[in-house]
Amino acid sequence: MPQETTASPIGRDTPRVDGPLKVTGTAQYASDFHFPGLLYAVPVEATIANGKIQKLDTTEAEKMPGVRAIFHRANIGKIFRSVMGKGMEGICVERRPPFEDDVVRYYGQYVALAVAETFETAKAAADAVRVTYSREKPNVETDLKADDDPKEVATTYGPEKRLQSERGEPDAAFASAPVKLDQIYVTPAETHNPIELQGATAMWDGSMLTLYEESQAIFNMRSVLAQMFGLPKENVRVITKFVGSGFGSKLWPWTHCPLAVAAARQLGKPVKLVLSRKMTFQTAGHRARTQQRVRLGATPEGKLVSLLHDYVYERSMLDDYHENCGEATAFQYSVPNLRVKFGRAKRNIGTPSDMRGPGAVTGLYATESAVNELADQLKIDPVRLRVLNEPKIDEGLGIPFSSRHYLECLELGAEKFGWSKRTPEMGSMKRDGLVLGWGMAGAAWIAARFAAEANFELRDDGTARVACGTQDIGTGTYTILAQLASLKAGVPLDRVEVALGDTSLPEGPVSGGSMATGSVVPAVFAAADNAITALLTIAATTPGSPFEKQKLDDLAFEGGRVFVKAEKSAGTVPFADLLRRANLRLVTGSGKAEATFGEKKSKFSTHSFGCHFVEVTWQPEIARLRVNRVLTVIDAGRIINPLAGRNQIEGAVVMGIGMALLEHTTYEPQNGAPINSNLADYIVAVNADVPSIDVHFLDFPDKEINELGARGIGEIGLAGIAAAITAATYHATGVRVRELPIKIEDLLTSSVLG
Ligand code: MOS
Repeated sequence: MPQETTASPIGRDTPRVDGPLKVTGTAQYASDFHFPGLLYAVPVEATIANGKIQKLDTTEAEKMPGVRAIFHRANIGKIFRSVMGKGMEGICVERRPPFEDDVVRYYGQYVALAVAETFETAKAAADAVRVTYSREKPNVETDLKADDDPKEVATTYGPEKRLQSERGEPDAAFASAPVKLDQIYVTPAETHNPIELQGATAMWDGSMLTLYEESQAIFNMRSVLAQMFGLPKENVRVITKFVGSGFGSKLWPWTHCPLAVAAARQLGKPVKLVLSRKMTFQTAGHRARTQQRVRLGATPEGKLVSLLHDYVYERSMLDDYHENCGEATAFQYSVPNLRVKFGRAKRNIGTPSDMRGPGAVTGLYATESAVNELADQLKIDPVRLRVLNEPKIDEGLGIPFSSRHYLECLELGAEKFGWSKRTPEMGSMKRDGLVLGWGMAGAAWIAARFAAEANFELRDDGTARVACGTQDIGTGTYTILAQLASLKAGVPLDRVEVALGDTSLPEGPVSGGSMATGSVVPAVFAAADNAITALLTIAATTPGSPFEKQKLDDLAFEGGRVFVKAEKSAGTVPFADLLRRANLRLVTGSGKAEATFGEKKSKFSTHSFGCHFVEVTWQPEIARLRVNRVLTVIDAGRIINPLAGRNQIEGAVVMGIGMALLEHTTYEPQNGAPINSNLADYIVAVNADVPSIDVHFLDFPDKEINELGARGIGEIGLAGIAAAITAATYHATGVRVRELPIKIEDLLTSSVLG
């Protein structure tokens, strides 16, 4: 690695290199691409959530001018199933190929597809398809009791033991604990609402398939579609240049993708299918509803003696998405007796899927809420209670943490927030006629690497190019890759070209799990080092080169210039000069790094940590609760781009305010429809809901992850924030809310007066 100087692009606030393209409207998102002969597809959505298609009448729709076809089970052609492969391949949350049978298992399931010359015609034709169903009452019951499942169950990502973690004698230790807490916490179904809607444009050229889709994982998309259409992988190309955010909804292929591909195949024309906002609530995943019982046993001094975490989540009728609420439970606290176990409840809903911080966000809401309640019960400060129970190692796995600076997070957070001024009695803090509530909670999120490959070029015009088939989902991956390339090539950011978002590039990581940044670092560095070696070889062997006849080992590359190690003062030569003298446009190198994610025997437990401190204001006379101030401290290793990093955490806190106070997807009990399936009725936090957010990063590089010590920072900001807000709400109002979101009705029982 080159010596980092103050001019290093790493660790510097760096505006998005793709910003100008976005603000000028030049950036092309997946559904912005147009092709000659392009046709538009609109799916027909089931209006029942449980039953069977009896009759599908397409007569009227087919007669409409401009309609090219109405597809359904009888004429869509073969769509195969896909299976999971090795690594991050073949992952599909909703596995059933569209139209595979006549059974409807959730509201909005696609039952037919209208294709026409314009979007408007396709929509009118889809509306004109008459479907007769035999219908049964759907099960969208919100109270979740675990179904009768075996000890080990299949999940989207492979088999899981329902008994996730166990140590000591949790039941006995809980029974005999002097202080006990036993509560149930509920999180609702939540729906991802990226502003860019999902949509696929598919086209065939003989047996070659190209798909434009805003995917968070183009290589997985390729492997699933190759399987579904019986093609070799190399016949499928997936392109995703820009993503208008995803929050996990765009991680895995949804059923509209094979529908667009199949329609394009049947008609021999490119076909575009963009979902409506309503459809994204039905057929593109959501955060599962969870019901979590947490039992804590403690000594009067505040030492945890037992922790039991039993959670149940909803899933669809056919699929096995695992909402891993136990992600952080087994390691977050030192406790000798512990059990984490899960159950699942089948419902007539579209399958849940990953949503920002899946599992940890729902799970930590419950466990951090329980710890806060225990602190109140014990009359111990919640920060102090956490300090008292800080583990030395990951007690779940029995291995050390690669880098855990949670206590430093708490210390810095408490200091910056002014926590020592808190008076614990509810309603005891007031300012400007408002009651103040202060609460806090901890956060954790997994850190690891996916496998990654990259390519690096140094070119004769003094520019560099880095290529990696990952995606930028709005988080700043273009910029991170440019910073890494700028560091290695020793050229400014504006002399770096970044290529991503295309399966014809070297295979890059999934943009998920907040792992893209950590994953690309070693691959890009290896690729750059190989390109530099190629350059030095040219320098040492090209006739007429200033370094001709030097030994390769005696040459060095730094700051974009080549020189003889022992005689740097004798002169350095820019790489572009050396390439021009050799009449070479470029030298290139490839690099590759293995995954650490999913490793069976890790030496270290790798996670990021953090905490949130929250102030709410409460106006009892009009029952008005506002989040007034949030301070977040994150320990995510080395921060490559603090500007983009802070943006990530701020965005997560905004989403956390939504989680605590606003967001919930409601399934209508009679027809099973997610009835608030639009942005007017599904309320997300907007500017007016969001106070000043103060984000601090610790800077402890984690060299277990990569050479720079950079872990991911996308999702952790959402972990724990809802528990901090409910704790602050209790402090202000005296009302303990254990089912999210907090509703005004919940707070009307407050006895705190203004
Ligand atoms: Mo994140 S839910 O892994 O996009």
